[in-house]
Amino acid sequence: MPAFAGRTALVTGASKGIGYHIARLCAHEGADLILVARDTQRLERVAQEMTECFPVNAAVFPADLSQPESAGELWQRVQAGGHNVDILVNNAGVGAYGEFREIPPEKTRGMRHLNIVSFTELMHLAAIEMARREWGRILTVASVAGFQAMPYMAEYAATKAYVLSLSEALRVELAPFGVVVTCLAPGPTDTDFFAAAGTRMLDTPGRKTPEEVARAGFRAMLRGRPLVVPGAMNKMMVFAGRLVPRALFAAAAARVLRRR
Ligand SMILES: NC(=O)c1ccc[n+]([C@@H]2O[C@H](COP(=O)([O-])OP(=O)(O)OC[C@H]3O[C@@H](n4cnc5c(N)ncnc54)[C@H](OP(=O)(O)O)[C@@H]3O)[C@@H](O)[C@H]2O)c1
Repeated sequence: MPAFAGRTALVTGASKGIGYHIARLCAHEGADLILVARDTQRLERVAQEMTECFPVNAAVFPADLSQPESAGELWQRVQAGGHNVDILVNNAGVGAYGEFREIPPEKTRGMRHLNIVSFTELMHLAAIEMARREWGRILTVASVAGFQAMPYMAEYAATKAYVLSLSEALRVELAPFGVVVTCLAPGPTDTDFFAAAGTRMLDTPGRKTPEEVARAGFRAMLRGRPLVVPGAMNKMMVFAGRLVPRALFAAAAARVLRRR
């Protein structure tokens, strides 16, 4: 019996990259899908593929989660469509590379709204509904960048520190209500993320494919784990960040990221 048969998973950022692969794994485990991103055509292609490959339903809910009120509006549309969200994959996120002074404010404003405000509002709405039904699974997507300061991706790293902290705290708060929160913190992953952030993919030995990262996150969610950092190199980096003084780590990160 598939683990999520009869459940419904809402996946943000499901049109490509890590979110697309997590959506596939949810469908493989029998969950119906609510697919969210901005690109409607791409979402419709994903929905068609999922329903052809797996015996599940897939509904497309286009939304720009960088806009004010977008998370609440999305949730209302989902409820009006008669869907109960049992699994929330709070994955959609973008980065912004460059000097803090020079990145256009509209870019970072949109990133803050997507990575923090909509992220939090979806957590809140899902937490209320899942706790009431006494069952839920939430998979959040942070980053290894959330474990320490990252000059030249300063605001992005700060948004991911927020994701990590909120996920860890809500895991404890929601556990008595049958809601399990798992946080996936990937290192460099071969997706469109870096191009959209305005830089090149970090050419590190620890780089992963989005499929590998999605599998690690999905497996951790199935097992009810609190946190997963995919890959030995990335785990080592997070561990090193705990041993080395934070200021030294930030200076080292600046040397890697300054001239990309
Ligand atoms: N790639 C990495 O190296 C890496 C490392 C650590 C963490 N992460 C995190 O992993 C998550 C997924 O990123 P990815 O690497 O899979 O990147 P990706 O391939 O660029 O996918 C991003 C997804 O988010 C959606 N999205 C972007 N802006 C959106 C918006 N305003 N409203 C709604 N959906 C939006 C995109 O679809 P549309 O463009 O159609 O909206 C797409 O489905 C992000 O939270 C990212 O911070 C990535």
